[in-house]
This record gives sequence, C-alpha cells and structure tokens, in this order.
Amino acid sequence: MEKIKISVPPFSALQKRKSEKWRAFPADILPMPFAVMDYELAEPVQVALMSLVKNSDTGYLGNVPELAQALSFFANQRWDWQIDPSIIKIAPDVGVGVIEICRLILKPGDKILINTPVYYNFYNWIKELHCEVVDAPLAENELRYTLDFPAIAKAYASGVKVHILCNPHNPVGALFTKSELAELADLAKQYGVRIMSDEIHAPLVYKENTFTPFLSASESAREVGFAFLSATKAFNIAGLKCAQIIAQSDQNLATLGRLPLAVHSRASLFGAIASAAAYQDGTSWLDAVIDELDSSRKFLKELISKSGIAIEYRMPEASYFGWLDLRKFELQGEIASKFISEGKIAIAPGNFYGPSGSGFIRINFATSKEITQDAVERIVKVLR
Ligand SMILES: Cc1ncc(COP(=O)(O)O)c(C=O)c1O
Repeated sequence: MEKIKISVPPFSALQKRKSEKWRAFPADILPMPFAVMDYELAEPVQVALMSLVKNSDTGYLGNVPELAQALSFFANQRWDWQIDPSIIKIAPDVGVGVIEICRLILKPGDKILINTPVYYNFYNWIKELHCEVVDAPLAENELRYTLDFPAIAKAYASGVKVHILCNPHNPVGALFTKSELAELADLAKQYGVRIMSDEIHAPLVYKENTFTPFLSASESAREVGFAFLSATKAFNIAGLKCAQIIAQSDQNLATLGRLPLAVHSRASLFGAIASAAAYQDGTSWLDAVIDELDSSRKFLKELISKSGIAIEYRMPEASYFGWLDLRKFELQGEIASKFISEGKIAIAPGNFYGPSGSGFIRINFATSKEITQDAVERIVKVLR
C-alpha cells in the first residue's frame, strides 16, 4: 500500500486559517502554544465532512450509532480494549464531559486532585465546579515523570472526592503503566475517590510505547473510573466539538445514565461524523502522523543539542509537545511576554500548568520542520 504523505500547507496558507491559533497573535509572531496540528486533514475525515456539506446536512446531532461502533472498533484494534458500543456517551468536548460527570457526583467545595504540571484547563474546570484544587505534583526523575503515590495517598486521605488524571500526560508527554494505573485504582477504591481519566492524547502514542486505557487496567479501575476519549487531538478536529465518555461498572454506568440529554445534543454533527470516520477509516493516516511526529520530536532534540545552550528536553512518549526545561536560565518575570517581545514567538509558559511547571516552556512540534527550526532559532535568540 502506498504510504500516506503528511503535509503542512505553506506558511502563507496557514496564516489564512481562521481558528484560534492563527488569530491570537499578530502575523510576525510565530504561534507555538496551541494544542492543534498544522497537518492537512486525513482524507476519510475530509470526505465525511464534505459529504455533509454537499448534502446541506447541517442540522443538530441526533442518534449516531456509527460513532460508538467506530470507537469500539478503534479501541479494540489499537489497545485491545473492549467497549460495548451501547454504553458510549457523547459530549461536546472532554472539558464538558468531565464537568458534567463531576456535577452528578460532587458538590461545591469538594476537593479534586490533579498532578501538576498538567493541562491548565483542569484548573478552570475545577473553578467552574466551585470545587477546591488539591495538587500531588508528578515526581520528576531526570525529566522522566511518574505518579507520586505517597503524595496521592496523602491527598486521598485528606478527603479528595475526584482525581482528574491525564493519561497520556499533557504537557510532559508521559504514559502511565498498567501496574501504576492498577495501583492508583486500588488506592482510589480504598478512599472512595472517583477517577476521571482524560485520554484525549491516547491515539498519539509513539510506536515503542504502550498506552493502557485506565478502565482496562483492573477491576478496581472499572469500579472507580470514567474515561474521556476524543478523536479531536489526533485527527485535528478540536473545533468540531465531539468527545466520548465511557464507564464500565454498574454504579458508574448509572451515573452516565443521569447525564442531562443536552450533553449529547450540544456536541456537533460535524464532530461526531468526522470522529466516526477517523476511528473507522483513519488509522493508516494516524500511523503516518505518528511517524511524522516521531521524526519531528527527534529533529527538535537535534536542533536543541546543536544550539549548544543549556535547554533540557526529553522526547515525549506521546503527543506533540516539546516540554523544554529552561530552569538553568533562571528567567524572571513574565516569560511569555519576554519571548513575544524579544523572540517574536508565542510559547506556553510552564507555570500555566501549575507551580511545578515553572522554568519550563511548552511548544508544539506538530508542524513543518521549517517552522520547528524557526521556533528553536527564535527561542535560542531570547536565551543567548
Ligand atoms: C489533556 C487535555 N484534555 C483536554 C483538552 C481539551 O479537550 P476538549 O477541547 O475536548 O475539552 C486538551 C487540549 O489540549 C488536553 O490537552
């Protein structure tokens, strides 16, 4: 079979895009903080979207059994995880899904655990729920990040009700093993904690690594967990609005059954149909994207080592973020503004992701090698 080519349109075409990444900054600033890819869409996704447009089929989202079937197929094929399609629920996005499930099981003031540095919107979700953030930062060992079990046990013992887990982890790109997840699930069961496992980056795991869906880790995991999946990161369709929620125990399925009906219908038809096409027919494209990202994460490593300055970078196990350790530079003040004014580059400052991210920056390498090279040159210029 002919290898699928992953391409990035010319910079001038990217700049004409109307989504947030290309409108957030003036044209002379290279926009690197956003979690979207610059690649052209997978053909099956394009075809599915075009057929909706050609048929003027732009109404509300109703019944879409093809999406649940396709996710069930994908999860089985990629992760050997069996999901009964009939239990899959749809939400407009992962954020709404987590918030709506939490609303059913929490009350304002309850404690929610996160493991920083972590996707900054976890803070916003917790704020929206009027709950309290508790942090058990990831343990860091030579830039390899793992769960800090003693800190998690202490937090659980302090009365945490929900733990929002990020697996694979944004921004550090780490994966948790089956035995770590099973250990976490046992601990959660012991303290009556529910785990919301945000698995949005799961399809983007590099080939030498293994992603374990939380709910497949153990019987305890199925008892305590909800999983949130989406094709939106891996297939670059975040603006189309569709995520999926899964539970695999009687009690958690009953909670899923209590979701307001509008959680489904506020997702979009475009998102659901594109996601179904992605899961069902997009795996060859996805494999080609993972190869491309693999060469980009290595290219970034090479650029950094050739720069000869003290940036530390460990290649991620999943997804497309360069989590760059600039702690040796002891940068002071507003780091994001410094990079904009001195380097003409927008980056995500590490402290966005919690106090343990201070001294880091996050960039996105799901773009062309030219743009990645330009980004590194601009970063180096600021640091020299
Ligand atoms: C870990 C994680 N969860 C959720 C999201 C946002 O997903 P959604 O738009 O489906 O809420 C992102 C976006 O970057 C993310 O990295």
